Amino acid sequence: MKRLVLTLALFAGLIFTLVLITQVGVVSAGNDDESEIKQGFAIAPVPLNLKGKNRALVGLGSYIVNAQGVCADCHSCPTYAPGHNPYLGQPKQFNPDNYLAGGVPFGPFTSRNITPDPASGLPEEHTLDQFLLIMHTGIDLEKDHPQISPLLQVMPWPVYQSMTDRDLRAIYEYLSAIPHAEPGTCSGAGE
Ligand code: HEC
Repeated sequence: MKRLVLTLALFAGLIFTLVLITQVGVVSAGNDDESEIKQGFAIAPVPLNLKGKNRALVGLGSYIVNAQGVCADCHSCPTYAPGHNPYLGQPKQFNPDNYLAGGVPFGPFTSRNITPDPASGLPEEHTLDQFLLIMHTGIDLEKDHPQISPLLQVMPWPVYQSMTDRDLRAIYEYLSAIPHAEPGTCSGAGE
C-alpha cells in the first residue's frame, strides 16, 4: 500500500512537472512575440502609418522583413543610405528614400515595387488574398515575363511559402504601413 502511494505521488509529480514545462514554454513563446514586435518598431527604417492597422502585426511584420526576410536587399534600390553600407564597414542604415520600391536588376528580371499604391493604399495594389497566393505559390500575377515562366524567378518564395499565414499577414500589414516610394539607381542586390 505504501509503495502504491509512493508510486502515485511520483506519477503525480511527473505530470505536474510536464504541465509546468509546457506552460512555461507557452508563456515564453508569448514573450518572444512581444519582444519581436518591440524590436520590429525599433528597427523600422521609415515612418509607419498605423491608422486602421493591427499594431502587433505591423511590428511583427517589420521584424520579419527587416531582421529575417532580407526583403530590402532585393527590393530597395539602393539598399543602404549613402555612407551606411555595412559591406563597406560603414554603420548600417537602410535607405529610407527608395525603401522596398523595387527596381533592383537581376539579369532579365527586376524586383517589384512592394510599397503601398498611393491611390488604393494596398501594397503593390494586391489584396491580402493575392499576396498570400503569391507567397504560397510564387505565381506572377503581373505576368511580367510569360515567355520565360509564369512563376516569379528570383524571389525566394519556396522558402517564404513555409511561413505561417499569421507571419505572412504580418508582412502584408507592415507593407501597408510603410510610405509609398519609387526606385532609385543601383546595380544589384544589397547595394
Ligand atoms: C533574392 C532577392 C529577393 C528577395 C530576398 C525578396 N524578393 Fe520579392 N521579388 C524579387 C524579384 C526579382 C521579384 C520579381 C521576380 C520576377 O519577375 O520573377 C520579386 C517579386 C515579389 C513579389 C511579387 C510582386 C508582384 O508585383 O506580383 C512580392 C509580393 C515580393 N517580391 C515580396 C517580397 C517580400 C515580402 C520579401 C521579403 C520577405 C521579398 N520579396 C524578398 C526578389 C526578391
